[in-house]
This record gives sequence, C-alpha cells and structure tokens, in this order.
Amino acid sequence: MSAPDLVIRGGDVVNADSVVRADICVSRGRVSALTEPGAAPPAEHEVDATGLLVLPGGVDPHCHVGFTSGEFTTLDDYPAATRAAVHGGTTTIVDFGIPVPGERVVDAVHRQREQAPRGYCDSGLHACVVDWDETTGGQLDQLAGEGVVTVKMFTTYRDETMADEETILRTMKHLRTLGGMVYIHCESNTIVEDTQNVVAAGGDISAHRHHETRPELSESAAVAAVLALAEHADAPVYFVHQSTPEAVALVERARREGRRAYGEVVVHHLTLDQGAYASDHPERFVCCPPLRSAHTVQGLRQKLVTGALSTIGSDHCCYDTGQKVAAKHDVRAMPNGLPGVETRLPVAFSEFVSSGLMPVTQFVDLTATSPARLNGLYPRKGLIAPGSDADLVLWDPQATATVRSSDLHMATDYTPYEGRPLRGLPVTVLVRGRIVVRDRAFIADEPHGQFVPASPIHAAR
Ligand code: URP
Ligand code: ZN
Ligand code: ZN
Ligand code: ZN
Repeated sequence: MSAPDLVIRGGDVVNADSVVRADICVSRGRVSALTEPGAAPPAEHEVDATGLLVLPGGVDPHCHVGFTSGEFTTLDDYPAATRAAVHGGTTTIVDFGIPVPGERVVDAVHRQREQAPRGYCDSGLHACVVDWDETTGGQLDQLAGEGVVTVKMFTTYRDETMADEETILRTMKHLRTLGGMVYIHCESNTIVEDTQNVVAAGGDISAHRHHETRPELSESAAVAAVLALAEHADAPVYFVHQSTPEAVALVERARREGRRAYGEVVVHHLTLDQGAYASDHPERFVCCPPLRSAHTVQGLRQKLVTGALSTIGSDHCCYDTGQKVAAKHDVRAMPNGLPGVETRLPVAFSEFVSSGLMPVTQFVDLTATSPARLNGLYPRKGLIAPGSDADLVLWDPQATATVRSSDLHMATDYTPYEGRPLRGLPVTVLVRGRIVVRDRAFIADEPHGQFVPASPIHAAR
C-alpha cells in the first residue's frame, strides 16, 4: 500500500450495518482502506480517534439555503449554512432550487448550484415543479443529465408553490422514466384554508394558534391522495417532514405492500410539541406542518424507532426573530420554518442514541446512509468504505453540552432547542479528507464545496 495522505487511528467505525474498530486510510479525498487497528502505515497527517466513534458525515436531505417564500428570504447563504452544517457533523446538504414566480425549473436549480463552491461542505439539489407545461418534461430530462433527479412538490401554499394533482401525476410519471422521485410536502390545502378561516373568524390567528390552523387530518388526507397517485403512476414517492404517526402508517403500509414509498421526519417534530405556541416566543416555532400534541410526538417517536421512517432531516430555514415577529399576528402571512442544520445530529443523537432508544447504526442509517441512497448520492456519501468520499465525523458519545444559541453558527438569533442538554457531540469533521472542524473549532481556510451530481435512485421504468 502506498502511504496514505491521512490516517484516522483506532476509532469505532460506524456504518448503517456495522461497528468495527479500525484505522481509516485516506488518499486524495477518498477512503482508500480500512485496516485492523494499528495496521495502517504511517502518514504525514494522523488523527487519533481512540475512544471515539467515526461516523460517515451526515447527509441532510432537506435543507433550505437562502430560500425565498413570499416576502421573506432566509438569512443564510452557502458559506453560512455549510459552516453551521459541519459544526453539527453534517457534510452534505441537499438544498432546493425553488422557482420564484416566473422562473423556469432549470434556472432555479442553476441559481442554487452556482453557490455550491462557496460551501464548506458538499451539496446536492432537489428541483421543484409548480405547474406543468410543454417544456417541463424536457427541463427534467436536462436536469437528470446534470445530476438532479429529485423534484420537490407541495400540496399546499396556494399562489406560491402549490401544485395540482394533474401536475403531481405528470411529474411522477416523467421522473419514473428517469429513475427519479417526487419529494412531497403533504397537507390538504382545502382543509388547511378552511381551518384557517374558522380560526380567523374567532378573532385570533396569531402564532399562539398556529397548531390549530393545520390539523393532523390535513396531513393524512394529502398523504393518502398522493400515495394513490404514486400507485397509479407506479412511481416512487418520498414524503418530507411527516409529523403524525397516522400519516407515517399510510406510507409504512404502502411500503409493506411493495410500493416505493418513503417517509422523512425532521428533528423538531420528534422533540418539540405544540406547548411551544404557548411560550413567550410562539413565532419562533412556526413551521409547517406545525408542532403537534405531546401524544402525537410520542407516537411519531415510536414510528421512528420501529423503523417506519426512512430518514431524519432538518428542514433548515434560517429566519431570525425579527422576521418571525413581523407578521406574528397572522400565521397566514408569517415566514414558516425553523433553523436546524447544525443541531440535527446532536439533538437526534442525544434523544435517541444516548437515551438508549436506538443503536448508533440505525442513527447512521437515518441521518446519512438512507438520505444518501434516496438522493442518488450513495455510495459516494453515507458510507465509510474504500472508494467513498472521506467525509468523516469523529463523534464523542460521552461529551455533554447545553444548547445555546450564542454557541451556534447559524445565521439567526435563536434556536428552538435553547437550554436542551446534549450527550454526544461531533469533535472533528472531515470533508473529502480535509479537516474543517478540529476539536470543535472551525479551521477551514477557504470553501471547497462541490455540487454532487445524483445518480438515478431507482431503475427507470
Ligand atoms: O415550515 C416549513 N417547513 N417551511 C419551509 C418550507 C417547507 O414547507 O418545507
Ligand atoms: Zn415543506
Ligand atoms: Zn422544507
Ligand atoms: Zn466555531
């Protein structure tokens, strides 16, 4: 074996299906070998991982960067979002090219893709289709050739990104031929708007009432309708930010029946509940779907640990308190979404692995391996094996901290997890063999992010 550029010695190397104590050799940004502990040849750069876990870098399948919705744009850009990501152990984000009104599907993707080299970690992209015209199929063909095979769609947000059923069906059928997949936000807009009207008629539709305006039934109804379209189209489908056990059960049953249906959950729906809307800062917790009852959160956590969900994302949206309060008296006008790319892995690890609810292998599967697979990035991402990118996180399972907004790096002034105790933290983080965080300090000199093209996820049909 020629001398590796870098060796990581003696850590417990975790993949989705194994934990093995090994040395990891890195050459030209990739893992070149795993050896018995102590057997790797000396290298110019060595990192001691004794007593630490070595995880594949986190892959965040749902991360909005510089995202404009209505009058509001999230406050981060690629440098800011990815600096926060790597501090939290995430080394690949999958962002969205969401068209602003009048923008073409491909142009929205290219606008975000140009940002990738400014990142401190790598990135992929989802396209977004809002309506179908005679050019859409050709645009999706072009994007598939450029490494974008997933398409975000929404059943809600009228006059912004909402797509009708015909558009969803056409997009599913077209992506099926490309080995791609629709990623869909499911809430029945009819039920949501009617409920908003009822709440508004009562005289208060402020952030304190947010959870009442988007009922659980709206989510189940939309998931059922979209599952039917996917079955009719014989197309795969991925449901983003599932927030209720009922909605997850619909997807679980479809998958058990042999259909290609997947569910994502985001950390805030697993760890926060609607009690946050009774707090002094309810606006900071306004997201769609909303935070649910404690009972629902318990059911959702149960679904996660029993394997009903495929991925854990962040749905990172970096608004600050000023933006959130601007329209807090009317949730219909507020910017929705919570900052979370940096806290995704530490909060999920504490809640599920340190608490004994989940083995670390399952954590890696949910936060890196399955997100990589379901985005066409595997085995380059989401795996520690020869040939994979050397995106590695040295993780101290015993390290403790308390979440403080002032210690975080996201371009906002708050975190929904303020004061939460953590056990288990990333210590040192490598992106394609470069150390970007060492002993919890950011040491990257300049950004070297790459856009990572996705391969087809499923065989084309
Ligand atoms: O509240 C959310 N999730 N806002 C971001 C856009 C979306 O729906 O994912
Ligand atoms: Zn959404
Ligand atoms: Zn989102
Ligand atoms: Zn720092």
